[in-house]
Amino acid sequence: MGNSLLRVQGLLCLSSLVCCEHTEDKPELVLIVSPSWLSPGASVTLRCEVKPPSAGWAFYWYKAVPDISQRNYRYELLPDSIRGTVEDFYIIHGQRNTAGYACRAGRGNQEYLTDYSEQKIVWSQDSQPATSLRVSPNREKHFTSDNVQLYCEGKSASWRVKRFTNSWSDSTDCSDWGTLSESSCTINSSWSHLSVYWCESGSGEFSNAVNITIHAPKPLLTVSPSWLSPGASVTLICEVEHPSAEWRFYWYKAVPDPSYLNYKFKLLPGSREGTVNDTYVIRGTTHTVGYACRTERRNPEYPTDYSEPKYVWSAGSYPTVSFTVSPDREQHSPSVSVTLSCGTNSAEWRVMKFSEKGYIANIENCPGLWTTTGSSCTFSTHLRHQSGVYWCESGSGEFSNAVNISVHNRDLLLVSPVHPVTEGTSVILICKQRGENTLSNVIFYNNEKLVQNDSRGELNISAVSQSDEGFYKCEHSGKVSPQSWMAVQAASRPESSLFIVLLVTGSVGGVILIIFLLLLCHFRQSKEQPVSKDQHQDQQQIYSSLLHGDLCVYETIRGSANSGKGQHDDSENFPDSVGMTSS
Ligand SMILES: *[C@@H]1O[C@H](CO)[C@@H](O)[C@H](O)[C@H]1NC(C)=O
Ligand SMILES: *[C@@H]1O[C@H](CO)[C@@H](O)[C@H](O)[C@H]1NC(C)=O
Ligand SMILES: *[C@@H]1O[C@H](CO)[C@@H](O)[C@H](O)[C@H]1NC(C)=O
Ligand SMILES: *[C@@H]1O[C@H](CO)[C@@H](O)[C@H](O)[C@H]1NC(C)=O
Ligand SMILES: *[C@@H]1O[C@H](CO)[C@@H](O)[C@H](O)[C@H]1NC(C)=O
Ligand SMILES: *[C@@H]1O[C@H](CO)[C@@H](O)[C@H](O)[C@H]1NC(C)=O
Repeated sequence: MGNSLLRVQGLLCLSSLVCCEHTEDKPELVLIVSPSWLSPGASVTLRCEVKPPSAGWAFYWYKAVPDISQRNYRYELLPDSIRGTVEDFYIIHGQRNTAGYACRAGRGNQEYLTDYSEQKIVWSQDSQPATSLRVSPNREKHFTSDNVQLYCEGKSASWRVKRFTNSWSDSTDCSDWGTLSESSCTINSSWSHLSVYWCESGSGEFSNAVNITIHAPKPLLTVSPSWLSPGASVTLICEVEHPSAEWRFYWYKAVPDPSYLNYKFKLLPGSREGTVNDTYVIRGTTHTVGYACRTERRNPEYPTDYSEPKYVWSAGSYPTVSFTVSPDREQHSPSVSVTLSCGTNSAEWRVMKFSEKGYIANIENCPGLWTTTGSSCTFSTHLRHQSGVYWCESGSGEFSNAVNISVHNRDLLLVSPVHPVTEGTSVILICKQRGENTLSNVIFYNNEKLVQNDSRGELNISAVSQSDEGFYKCEHSGKVSPQSWMAVQAASRPESSLFIVLLVTGSVGGVILIIFLLLLCHFRQSKEQPVSKDQHQDQQQIYSSLLHGDLCVYETIRGSANSGKGQHDDSENFPDSVGMTSS
């Protein structure tokens, strides 16, 4: 017993010895210089911190003098610093130029001296005759492909160019990041960053310091309107920093493509040579589409990255790709689960969400990017920020219709259809209270106007017309539901009657079509290209790009439902439609 106690004490002693050697004998010095950018003539405060903190130190203050031949610095004691100062700070008055500093500390009779602290620099844009930095072209912001030349000028024959970037703690030489020539240093950077640059001369001087921002511009695309209305045109506007007449604009359709992880970009008609106008108008869009733009500058030639894709959403469902939501309602309470289905035969699917905050987000509780399993995905709405616009994208390049889904932690919710209702049909809007089945005495509003106030709990619109489109909400015993948009679509469109004909002749026609195509292929095989009905596709260049930023994990759905709905009006996807009819 006593023995073991001794042993424990012994261990404690040992560990404290080891510990003390580390902390007491090797304190570190941290120098803080403020401000970091000087207004010429102001004071500079140096503060030296001993880490870990301990008492009884004398502090020594140094000025750093560039030593070009040694690729280093010499340290010269500052005035009144020979015997060290008791204070752990030192003030320099009336400083005008860029300067470097360091500190050191000592204590005890046979004075123990620490190492020098790391050197810190205070930057000034005041140039001086001894040495100055000139930047060409003379501006603060540059593109990654620009040649930015740094010239050190002054009486000294030798010099070096230094830079400090926030992401590195040390300043580095031109040879680390640029191309050195006899008279200048050229910045050559393919990444965006902000740095401070200055020169150091052979005669030991610092030059003026200059901020330089290097960046890769990314255009910003806006698409309006966001929701398609029949017959309306879609306007794309591509914005780029530093607008000038030299930019040319390239316009793309974003085509979902699992092999490129996200999209490949197909040039839109008339944009092969780029357009001078930053606006592009598209007519006759009927389906959900993603767009992107890119800009290029001539002289010096400079291409930008693709913009993030932006969408125009179509609410109407179309035969090949139809997105369904179950339960079929726009407003959901946080306690329920919602099942999303992409009605398609394409092997790969994913569900996309454009969140209320305006970015593309992932969907919690659903599988990751581009899956091939499962024709639907169920997600729980427990998180309020599930609200947004949802749609499907297929691996064969199509978009589905889009829906609004909102999640509200409210007592009263309106049950309204998630898809547009067809003119002439009837629709019933219901008001639901948490924990209750049916309500009576409900007031309904359309675009803030009272439309029904009686004992009923639902609003029955027996034959919907275009004028019924708009926002609806309900009110019950003083509580009001959130409002939701009810979209109305025209009764019969030419393409849907065509679709019905095709549906009726579906299986028979499909088989005949396949035989016909097989024969056609057989005949053409020896000649050249397979049949392509898309005139644009051949002449359009296909670009691809990986998207980054907020685009990350999406859950993915492969639809297997609605396999009979095999035809749509987009000839581009003709071969797919045939495949579907046969299954
Ligand atoms: C800049 O770097 C790129 C590759 O990183 C290289 O191709 C190019 O020649 C360099 N330019 C100069 C002026 O050194
Ligand atoms: C350089 O940039 C810093 C901020 O990053 C700023 O505080 C400073 O004033 C700038 N200096 C000049 C000369 O523009
Ligand atoms: C650019 O295109 C838009 C839309 O077509 C048009 O209104 C505008 O006048 C055009 N601007 C120029 C400078 O051509
Ligand atoms: C979604 O909501 C917006 C307004 O918030 C509306 O313009 C759009 O038509 C709605 N889409 C559908 C499918 O209801
Ligand atoms: C709805 O009707 C009730 C009974 O007629 C009436 O008391 C109430 O004021 C009405 N509410 C509104 C908002 O008009
Ligand atoms: C709604 O109105 C239609 C047409 O008048 C009628 O057939 C239907 O029964 C009504 N539904 C309800 C729940 O009242």
